[in-house]
Amino acid sequence: FYELVSIAESHFLKKASNLFKTQSTNNVPTVEWLLWPACCSLFSHHVFSGTTWISEVIDMIYKEGNVKECGQKPIYMRVPFLEFLLKRAPRPRVVKTHLPVQLLPKLFWENNCKIIYVARNAKDVAVSYYFFYQMAKVHPEPGTWDEFLQKFMAGDVAFGSWYDHVKGWWDKRKEQRILYLFYEDLKEDSRREIRKVLEFLERPIDEQLVEKIAHHTSFKEMRQNPMANYTSIPKSIMDHSISPFMRKGITGDWKNHFTVAQNESFDAHYKRQMEGSTLQFRTEI
Ligand code: A3P
Repeated sequence: FYELVSIAESHFLKKASNLFKTQSTNNVPTVEWLLWPACCSLFSHHVFSGTTWISEVIDMIYKEGNVKECGQKPIYMRVPFLEFLLKRAPRPRVVKTHLPVQLLPKLFWENNCKIIYVARNAKDVAVSYYFFYQMAKVHPEPGTWDEFLQKFMAGDVAFGSWYDHVKGWWDKRKEQRILYLFYEDLKEDSRREIRKVLEFLERPIDEQLVEKIAHHTSFKEMRQNPMANYTSIPKSIMDHSISPFMRKGITGDWKNHFTVAQNESFDAHYKRQMEGSTLQFRTEI
């Protein structure tokens, strides 16, 4: 799994786009073939935007709130990466991806799959990502915070430009079945957002279930849940003593890391990058 994760590093986008172009030869199935007709639900996000959180919510929904069943495997096995699917997944087929919209295999569109996209404000993503680069050993050294921030702004990080990613999926939501969620909204009122997900998945809004999911997927619960907090991954790959994967789980931590000068140049750059888009983020709640 982690050898595959390393593919995601610096050349990820190039490799992924080649992979999806590959045709079936010598009985080697293409990724598209593996997916067919696996389409059901897909959860997409730029990194550090609540992937693990929403995955746990979705798994709880499909397992009808059965905490014991959810606790049988780590979250990265219950909701695997689309990019790493090696065999046809059993139903319900729930996969996650960090791919930008233009690299999603076209069968997802053709099969009218339901897609839930979770976005988080750029400043908190940059901070969260910086800590993850340090603890997850598949990444190159991130350098100083300032160096990393420059790379983030330039899109020179795994999975590319945050700006293009969030805008690309935002524009696509008009033509496809996409529920576009925000980390900040989940933080503000997780029950409200869980109801939105239930509705989107055409499930009854059972308030007891909503309550159970909100409790089980709270930061406090997930942080201490070994099936959700990534502590099942060996230390040589993820070193939680450097920074835990479940780090702070708040909105606005960027204020503890951005200097005034960094914030000013980030805001100016952000304005240029997001010009013309109707997409709005909250950097505090
Ligand atoms: P922080 O580093 O800011 O704490 P992803 O799963 O997409 O990689 O996102 C990881 C970020 O989501 C981390 O942010 C992590 O703490 C946060 N997170 C994970 N589960 C959460 C939860 N239940 N509630 C709030 N934040 C959560």
